Amino acid sequence: MSLLKIKIYGDSVLRQKADEVETIDDYIRAFVRNMFDTMYAADGVGFAAPQAGFLKQIFIIDLSDVEGEPEEPMVFINPKILWKSEKTSIAEEGCLSIPGIREDVKRPEEVEVEALNEKGGKVHYKAKGLFARAILHEIDHLEGVLFVDYLGSVKKMMLKDRLEELERQSKTEQEAA
Ligand code: NI
Repeated sequence: MSLLKIKIYGDSVLRQKADEVETIDDYIRAFVRNMFDTMYAADGVGFAAPQAGFLKQIFIIDLSDVEGEPEEPMVFINPKILWKSEKTSIAEEGCLSIPGIREDVKRPEEVEVEALNEKGGKVHYKAKGLFARAILHEIDHLEGVLFVDYLGSVKKMMLKDRLEELERQSKTEQEAA
């Protein structure tokens, strides 16, 4: 088992666009296994490669503890959104890169996505509710977007101190690395 270092809010790598994976090889598969180890150790349900400082279009989701959601861990490589519903929903989100903050975020209620899995096979999901939300949250990471970006100015103001604290923590960790 190998844990990756989770990049914290304020780290510029979280703001960059991830590149497509060209070849799904043993290196990528080992990295994906490490992503799962890291996500489970941190009690997360989704994790994207840029959160570990690896700017490739890879994310994972495991909602198997949640009733009514897919029962298997899922890997998404080079994902493409095929369709998003007009209808939106609001629910609370958190992020392993933004510890201690959970806020309501409005997102499309449904999404259709295709991607490759770690074996290079095509996967296709039509997701709704929490699963759709998780996919959209993780795809955002591949574009350098974080859920706090969607918050209104009043909410952002209220979180300002906490976010600045995370930025300081992130800076200290980057200097130590
Ligand atoms: Ni996140």
